[in-house]
Amino acid sequence: MEGIHPVSSYEQFQRDVASNIEGLRADVDLQAMSRIWIREITPHRWAYNFSWLGRPAIQFPNDAWAIQEIVWRVRPDLIIETGIAHGGSLIFSASMLALLDIADAAVANDTINPRISNRKVLGIDIEIRSHNRAAIEQHPLSSRIQLIQGSSISSEVIAEVKEIAAGYSRILVCLDSNHTHDHVLEELKAYAPLTSVGSYCIVFDTIIEDMPKEFFSDRPWGIGNNPKTAVQTFLETHSEFEIDQSIHHKLLITVAPDGYLKRTC
Ligand SMILES: C[S@@+](CC[C@H](N)C(=O)[O-])C[C@H]1O[C@@H](n2cnc3c(N)ncnc32)[C@H](O)[C@@H]1O
Repeated sequence: MEGIHPVSSYEQFQRDVASNIEGLRADVDLQAMSRIWIREITPHRWAYNFSWLGRPAIQFPNDAWAIQEIVWRVRPDLIIETGIAHGGSLIFSASMLALLDIADAAVANDTINPRISNRKVLGIDIEIRSHNRAAIEQHPLSSRIQLIQGSSISSEVIAEVKEIAAGYSRILVCLDSNHTHDHVLEELKAYAPLTSVGSYCIVFDTIIEDMPKEFFSDRPWGIGNNPKTAVQTFLETHSEFEIDQSIHHKLLITVAPDGYLKRTC
């Protein structure tokens, strides 16, 4: 078909994709249009329209796809998530871990009795409403999910998470709770060090910095006080992390520009 190049090899295809992303990185008009699109869709509460395997997930679908790519590359055995809400992102992560187990079983040629690994999602929320807890605990993937109720920056919760994380070697971290600068910075200090080398600490809602200030007039966060400013402060003293810009450039529509932090060493 005209305009679509034949795929000569997987490597060539990957080079083409990298070139596509480079083109998007250089296209400031398209980036501005994407920000405008997000600005215009936000009052419609677009992020609330989606669910994963039956539970509402307050996410942009593009970000879920990017997380799926990260999960396949990193193959985490533990995903730590702050901010549960209705549980959709937890169920999403649990299903990704289940798929890793299925893939492992296929490689081991044991698809009849796939081994259930100890891969797990740890969700933390200051308030797990009873109906959300019940729905998460009754979900078919609940055996992979552990819930902790409490503030993600309380010393008790941090200690509990660290104790659990000590039993795992490949850890992915997702921060999506209170979006103030101070709170996210404390979360980064507590949980980013648990990220294994080569894995990611994903900081959601960095997009707040790029939106009109009126959007947040009834919120404790806003321009200059949000997850992106926390990331900037954190990175000043944490050179073991770098922003994987290829992710937000390829997504364009994302709530986490500059929020995909890769641990490099
Ligand atoms: C944006 S929602 C999370 C959305 C969820 N990750 C999803 O994708 O569906 C934010 C959640 O953070 C929780 N939260 C607010 N402050 C918190 C804190 N100090 N510690 C832990 N969770 C907190 C809220 O109760 C709320 O459920």
